[in-house]
Amino acid sequence: MPELKLSFFGHGGDYNPDQWRHIPGTLDEDIRLMKLAGCNLMSVGIFSWAALEPEEGRYDFDWLEEVLDKFAENGIHAFLATPSGARPQWMSAKYPEVLRVEENGIRRIHGVRHNHCFTSPVYREFVRRINTALAERFGHHPAVVGWHISNEYGGECHCELCQAAFRQYLKDTYKTLDNLNHAWWTGFWANTVTDWNQLHSPTRIGETHVHGLNLSWKRFVSHQTLDFMKAEIAPLREITPHLPVTTNLMTFFDGLDYFRFGDVFDFASFDSYPAWGRGESDEDEALTAAFNYDMMRCILKKPFALMESTPSQVNWQKVDKLKKPGMHFLSSMQAVAHGADTVQYFQWRKSRGSWEKFHGAVVDHVGHEHTRTFRDVAEVGDALKKLTGVLGSGTESDVALIYDLNNRWALDNSQGPRFEKHYVETLLEHYRALTRLGVNVDVVDQTYDFEGYRVVAAPLMYLIKPGVGERLEAFVEKGGTLIVTCRTGCVDQDDLCFLTGFPGPLRRVTGVWAEECDGLWDNERNGIRLSTGETYACRDMCDLIHAETARVLGEYTGDFYAGMPALTVNDFGAGRAYYIASRPEQAFLDAFYAKLLPEAGVRPLADNLPVGVQVAAREGEQGRYLFFMNFSRRPAKVELPAGTDALTGEAVFGEAELPVSGVRIVKCQEV
Ligand code: GLA
Ligand code: ZN
Repeated sequence: MPELKLSFFGHGGDYNPDQWRHIPGTLDEDIRLMKLAGCNLMSVGIFSWAALEPEEGRYDFDWLEEVLDKFAENGIHAFLATPSGARPQWMSAKYPEVLRVEENGIRRIHGVRHNHCFTSPVYREFVRRINTALAERFGHHPAVVGWHISNEYGGECHCELCQAAFRQYLKDTYKTLDNLNHAWWTGFWANTVTDWNQLHSPTRIGETHVHGLNLSWKRFVSHQTLDFMKAEIAPLREITPHLPVTTNLMTFFDGLDYFRFGDVFDFASFDSYPAWGRGESDEDEALTAAFNYDMMRCILKKPFALMESTPSQVNWQKVDKLKKPGMHFLSSMQAVAHGADTVQYFQWRKSRGSWEKFHGAVVDHVGHEHTRTFRDVAEVGDALKKLTGVLGSGTESDVALIYDLNNRWALDNSQGPRFEKHYVETLLEHYRALTRLGVNVDVVDQTYDFEGYRVVAAPLMYLIKPGVGERLEAFVEKGGTLIVTCRTGCVDQDDLCFLTGFPGPLRRVTGVWAEECDGLWDNERNGIRLSTGETYACRDMCDLIHAETARVLGEYTGDFYAGMPALTVNDFGAGRAYYIASRPEQAFLDAFYAKLLPEAGVRPLADNLPVGVQVAAREGEQGRYLFFMNFSRRPAKVELPAGTDALTGEAVFGEAELPVSGVRIVKCQEV
């Protein structure tokens, strides 16, 4: 597997020089500005297919060669893109099969990006040819350090080719119609399938009520997208086996199982667009960003690229706030703190026309370097040069939080006991409590190895794949601490309910049986009274559980089930498993983990963090770096460990003030 081996922190962004070819001198000016801003890594050619292949079979790569040559002369590197994210007009006109078909059966016409069928052999062949040509021409160019495959894969196609591929996928998965009928429980509403050709993607003009079908389709879309990506990469692997490949992923995107991308790409990369500056504090935006960074780092358990972020504002949120002074630096360092080895932007030069002409960019329409944004970017460039010791280093975490896409699909699709299950919100509540306590968290799915963690939290793990219950049991037996919540262990891999009493495969380890689950209205609350006296509100869903071997630590305060267990713990082997039977308020989780982490032997990276101040650590051959980051929008006091400020070189130890949006990066003293 080729690695992304950079000897410098990557800094740069999406660069679209083909849009500026008619203004002579722009490329030279861009290069002057890139050097001035400390930028050394650009992603080129992402949406350039029309420029690269102006008519069928005629490639025009000379402009790109000039760009790459000038990069190489000036010490700038490139992620070279494959252009499949948007196809040229001539292709859609001549070969309409490359365009997507919507759920209602209507084929789209040319327009926007990501409007292509992942199955179409015609599209795959066009992609294979241009990727081959790009690899042959530039694969050994000194400026090129990796492949940027397509752009933000997503969406689905319901064309006949995709239907046929879906049927084949189902045949490969289920082998026989009997198996499929059983797995999908098709006796319901006379859905029994008697011929493979009857199978069709879920659609509102047809079937959407068979959960097994819906889940299979989600899995198929992921599978087919990865299949397309493998086809994109095949010629690159052959011609440029030395170059690592990636594709850029999105925040909490639920259309694809990103954890499976680790089987295909060499490093993960991520596009991060928090809505900084909303409300009173940036804590929540920072949590969402950090959660996603932790997930990116865990896909392959190695550093990732921050492929896109905005240097100032975006142009697609409801309201696009400018980054307040200091926020660009802070948000860039946050990605590094959580495992990024690059800081890149969308985009380098602000476009003059069309949809993204008011999206933040390093070089504004005015064209020079005397802007606040440019200075902010240059400041990051300066800092990254001082952080070379962090490059390539890893993250040690005692705590894993399970975020599972198969679970998300099944849970969101399930009917009852209320519409909104709030999976992502619930994950973030657990993540918030853990972050406030100053620990590194790994975000993994249920297929990962739990060995090596002290604590595994698996909120709302409704779907449990084969073997996962056993692995979690073994984890607890050996001394681990497991936390699960209401609505756990209800269905198996096929979305069929366990018939052994919920939480299914986790019944033994949690020592509880969840007999029923009550849905609560949005404004309805129950309470959890702990045996230690405190009471907390809870909402959404209340499991009515029986403590079988578990001890009861808290009870419901309301409704006809007041007095029934709401929090339990089960001693199991050398470890223990907690069952939180509802969705408690944040204060409950803050207190719960504050008690649990020390008991589980998890040491925080820093004590007494003010709310809104986050800490993360990276460790490698050059030592341990602790990042203190203030997202609270108020000055805050922190306790720095003994070490050296990685940016100023000063010795540090003890109390320090972090200004609003302040960051301190401490290279810890060896112990
Ligand atoms: C995405 C895309 C980019 C650009 C940005 C704008 O992340 O990958 O091409 O459109 O959004 O924020
Ligand atoms: Zn299709």
